[in-house]
Parts: sequence; C-alpha cells; structure tokens
Amino acid sequence: MTEAAAKVEKAKLTLPDGREHEMTCYRSTIGKDICLIDIRDLYSKVNAFTYDPGFTCTASCASAITYLDGDKGICLYRGYAVADLCRHYDYTDVCHLLLNGDLPTEAERVDFVNMIEDHMMVHERFKEFFKVFRMNAHPMAIMVSASAALSSFYSESMEWSNEEHRESSAINLVAKMPTLAAMAYKSSIGEPIVYPRAGLSYAANFLRMMFATPMKEYVPNPVHVRAIDRFLTIHADHEQNASTSTVRIAGSSQANPFACVAAGIACLWGPAHGGANEAVLKMLADIGTVENIQQFVTDVKNKKDGVRLMGFGHRVYKTYDPRAVYMRELCKEVFDGLEYYDPQLAIAQELEKIALSDEYFKKRNLYPNVDFYSGLILRAIGIPTSMFTVMFALGRSLGWITHWMEMVGSGQMRIGRPRQLYQGVVERTVPAPAPLPTAMPSSRDISRPTTADEPARKVSSATAGITRRMSGIRLASKKSADMTGMHPTVPT
Ligand code: ACO
Repeated sequence: MTEAAAKVEKAKLTLPDGREHEMTCYRSTIGKDICLIDIRDLYSKVNAFTYDPGFTCTASCASAITYLDGDKGICLYRGYAVADLCRHYDYTDVCHLLLNGDLPTEAERVDFVNMIEDHMMVHERFKEFFKVFRMNAHPMAIMVSASAALSSFYSESMEWSNEEHRESSAINLVAKMPTLAAMAYKSSIGEPIVYPRAGLSYAANFLRMMFATPMKEYVPNPVHVRAIDRFLTIHADHEQNASTSTVRIAGSSQANPFACVAAGIACLWGPAHGGANEAVLKMLADIGTVENIQQFVTDVKNKKDGVRLMGFGHRVYKTYDPRAVYMRELCKEVFDGLEYYDPQLAIAQELEKIALSDEYFKKRNLYPNVDFYSGLILRAIGIPTSMFTVMFALGRSLGWITHWMEMVGSGQMRIGRPRQLYQGVVERTVPAPAPLPTAMPSSRDISRPTTADEPARKVSSATAGITRRMSGIRLASKKSADMTGMHPTVPT
C-alpha cells in the first residue's frame, strides 16, 4: 500500500475488560468501500490476537500486482482487465507487464522475447532427473520436484537480497517452466524429450515440446497456439490465492525462489484449487448425460458424500468470475475454430443453467469459476487430463515469481507465522512410565528356540510394555479430542 493511498482513519476495539484500542485503517487505491484495519500491534498493546481460519478477512501483505473485486466480478493485472489483456496481448507481454509493471514497448518486446527464448533450455543433466520417476507418475508430482530441482542448478545466483539474482531467477523460471512441463509429460508417457526451438512463440514452443517426436515434427495450429497463450494469461495471477500465499510464506523464511515455487505447485495440486479443472471433467463424465444433471444437482444440494459442483464457487467472487466469462468466450472460439464437438459441453452448459437458476446456488452466490470451461478447452486442444493442473501451474508461475519479487524487493520479509487458538488439554504431569520387563530376549534366544512356542512367548513379553504404552497413547489422543478445552463451541 503506498503512502498516498493510505488515509489516516481510525477504528476502535473495545475488549471484554473494557480497555479500548485504536487502530489505523487503510484503503486500497480502488474498491474504497473496504477498510483494512491494521492489527499489527494488537498483541503488544492489548494482549489479543484475531481468529480467522482460512484468512477470510485478513490481508497478509500490501501488493500492487493484481486487483480483484469479488462483488463486481473484476480482475485487473497492474490495472488492466484480464479479459482485455487476453483479447489484445500475448502471454509474454503479460509476463513483461507483471514483472516490470507495464506492457512492453516494441523494442522492449523484442528484447524480452529474446531473453525468454535464450533461457528456455534446461541443463542437460536435467534429463537424467526425469528418468527416476516411475512410468505413469502424475506430471504434477514431477513438476513439484522439478521446480525445486532448479535450485540445484542455480545455487550461485538465487540470493534473495541480490536484485540481479532475483531478476535472473524470475526469467529462468518463466522461461524454463514450459520446457519442464513438457519434459514431465514426455517422461510420463515414455517419449524422448523435445528441446525448445528459437523463433516460435512461448505457447507454440510449449505445444511443440509436448507433441513433436523424433519421427514427426509438430505443425503449430494457430487455434491451439492462441488458446494456450490465452489460457496462460488468464491463469497468470490472482492476488493472494492459496498457492500464491504459500509461495509468499515459503519466501518469508528466505527460502530460494525455486523452492518457494515448488511449494506453490504443491498447494495448487489440490482439487479445491488448481486440481479443479481436472475434477470438472471427471464430474461431467460421472454425470454422463443431460438427463442425469437434475439428480446430480440434488446430490450436491444434499451434500451427498461431499459431492460438490466442481468449477463453481470462489472465496472472493460472489458473482460471475470474470475469468470464467472469458473462458466461455474462448471455449466457443476454440470449438468453432476447430469445428470440434464434445458431448460434455452440452452437459456443462445445461448444468450451469440449472445451477444458476437454483435457490441453493443463488443463496450462496455460487457461480462458475475459471475452471468450469477450461478443461473442455484443454481437451479440445489435445492436452491430456493429467496435464491440466500442470497447465495452470505453467501460467501461474508468473504470478508466483512476481509476488516473490515484490515481497522480497519491497522488504516485506517478516516471516509468516500465524497464531492459533489452542483447544487442546491443559498442562498436566507426565505419568510415570510402565516398568520395562527386566529380561529382554536376545537375538540368540529367538534364533535358537528350545521349544516350538518359546520364541513367540519371549517376543510377546518383550513387546507387551510397548503395546501397552502405545494403546495408552491412542487412548490419550482420543481423550484429548473429547476435551476440546475452554471454548468447545468455537466454530472452525
Ligand atoms: N458446490 C456446492 N456447494 C458449494 C460449492 C460447490 N462448488 N462451493 C461452496 N459451496 C457451499 C458450501 O458447501 C457452503 O455451504 P453451507 O453454507 O451450506 O455450508 C457454502 O457454499 C460456502 O462454501 P465454502 O466452502 O465456505 O466456500 P469457500 O470460500 O471456503 O470455498 C471453494 C471456495 C474452495 C472454491 C469452493 O467454492 C469449492 O470447493 N469449489 C469447488 C472447487 C473449485 O472449483 N475450485 C476452484 C476454485 S478457483 C481456483 O482455485 C482457480
């Protein structure tokens, strides 16, 4: 938050014992109806913490990268509407915008694209790294490891406090992610790795590394290339989402940027986050036909076995996710451009229509999010389902490294260390341990039995104490789950 943006407004907190505490309020540069109360001195001044699981009302940092308005359905990268960027600019322009604060001039564009291109190759030893994974390993499992492994190749140039190191790490990451993603895919299907090639766009290079083989060159399809490019832009950043917050928390310990991004990839993998695009297609396949939609929606509303409408709902957006609006537009563009038909598109469209007119979803402000149509687009292009979340990671790497750069570069390096509301047992005395058996059986006793059943008896007498103690631990943990402490009704 800039000094200019901060107005001196105060909020007052009255504690249960009557003490009062005054706190400064900040306002974002846009969306002025939200007051951000600075609680940083709450503990030191009045001995209090706040309780906010899931950080639903907590701003963890000040940032100038992306702005969201969840009520109005707005998403801006450095002030520009993301859908407009998709319509008019390439992903590498957006890389320049996020990393440097502005869209490139013509000369800057040429330099930037050349620089990315020059860094796309990975160290030849990386090929060996991919060989250790078992066949059919999920490409996300490989990506988590591959990103962390980048730090083993750049250990001399990833010092967080060195600006040049930070910039070279960012370029290396953005340039090498498509290469690593394609290598992860090739290794998961047992095909030889394809090197990046100069003269192709970022998206075309990625598609070529995915689909070319030593036997057959890949001829870029402009519909595919444009769709992948736009997919990457739409996923490039989304302010303090779970994976970006993970990257920031990891970075706050001064961990290297590649390890921080590996942490972000791990977080993204979950179906509640980046894994949702894969989960949407599974959901559509499970529904099977348009006739089954009503029953599925009933199951969602009844929360049957945790059934959720994947690709719907968002922590911030309480209206249509603007990225989903663009994704629907892109979906039509791709399907028309390829003259492609997918029976699941009809199921998705009908499901969306039914959900949007249903009281359950209306009451909870559940609308399609970016993942609702993205899987259908990727499948139309021929991207295998196992690579969907990798595609998300590929685009989002830009946001992760931009946030890491911002955090480190603006000195917001206070280690991320939340507090907790302890609900366990109160302090108690460690009980005296049960006495150990005096005679332990030696290996000779076991290996040279005198009778057939003697070894079993000796071993069981030696382990009896351990078993007793272990069942004691189990009982104790069950007990502690029952003893929820001073505030058993606190919602979690
Ligand atoms: N289907 C059915 N019900 C839902 C859904 C959904 N997709 N999402 C939320 N709800 C319901 C909840 O059950 C809850 O209902 P209740 O009040 O009766 O208990 C209410 O809406 C509020 O939901 P929360 O879980 O509190 O919302 P939260 O903000 O924590 O979760 C999330 C957001 C994780 C995205 C959630 O909406 C979800 O699981 N969606 C499906 C997965 C998905 O599409 N994830 C991608 C998100 S976008 C991204 O990461 C790129």
